[in-house]
Amino acid sequence: MLNAERLRASLPICGLGEPLYFYPNIGSTNDQATDFARQGSPHGTLVVAEEQTSGRGRAGRYWFTPPASALALSLVLRPQGLTLETLGELTALGALAVVEALENVGIEALIKWPNDVLIHGRKVAGVLTEASWLGDELEFAILGVGVNVRPKSVPPDEKVDMPATCVEATVGERVDRHELLLNVIQGVGKWYLHLGSPQMLIAWNQRLAYRGRIVKVHHMQGAILGRVKGLAIGGRLRLQSEDGEMIEIAVGDVHLRPVDMGSK
Ligand code: BTN
Repeated sequence: MLNAERLRASLPICGLGEPLYFYPNIGSTNDQATDFARQGSPHGTLVVAEEQTSGRGRAGRYWFTPPASALALSLVLRPQGLTLETLGELTALGALAVVEALENVGIEALIKWPNDVLIHGRKVAGVLTEASWLGDELEFAILGVGVNVRPKSVPPDEKVDMPATCVEATVGERVDRHELLLNVIQGVGKWYLHLGSPQMLIAWNQRLAYRGRIVKVHHMQGAILGRVKGLAIGGRLRLQSEDGEMIEIAVGDVHLRPVDMGSK
């Protein structure tokens, strides 16, 4: 089991993780963090749960978090000057923090633009950023991160839209979830200070999945097919279409699949 006191002893890290709210069982840490943020909880508030009964993924999908086997955390962030266009950078920093935490335990993971973390093409973690706006001004954002750690946390195939895996299946041994969680917080804290910077873009670009492969991106305006060339300024995905034209897609409500994986 995760131990709240053990976590608290190492928090805050880079201004994140204080206060810490720990729940053995909750509906969704994102929902709870949103409630705290609405009540005025400060930047850096962290909500951690051992089990989620209504965990949420992007596009209204269900997120599986059975007891004592995953990481489910949400941070209240109150960044200055972020716009709807640059909000996706928060998602990227969550994914980057997970990738680097996995690198610390010897795993090479990649970011499936914009918000999934993959190990050998299988999803191990996801990031859900939710924002509250006061007119054009961001009031707060909730950065929710879910990581499959133990085999029990891997969702059954019929519940997910892409194959999943977990950290321990790759490492081949028990992983300390406290260490992993603190490493993720540390990564978020580090990249938060460089949000949207050229360094962040380089780090993200280096871990981009499907580079050179043909993918289909489902966007609000329709579907776009192209070869992944990398990231452009602002974290937009650069694709080259069949006729050689370069296309840039903004981080928004998108859904990306490599074409050779079928439609799943
Ligand atoms: C996705 O891949 O679709 C995003 C998944 C995000 C899951 C995390 S788990 C902690 C936080 N609470 C939630 O209800 N969702 C996020």
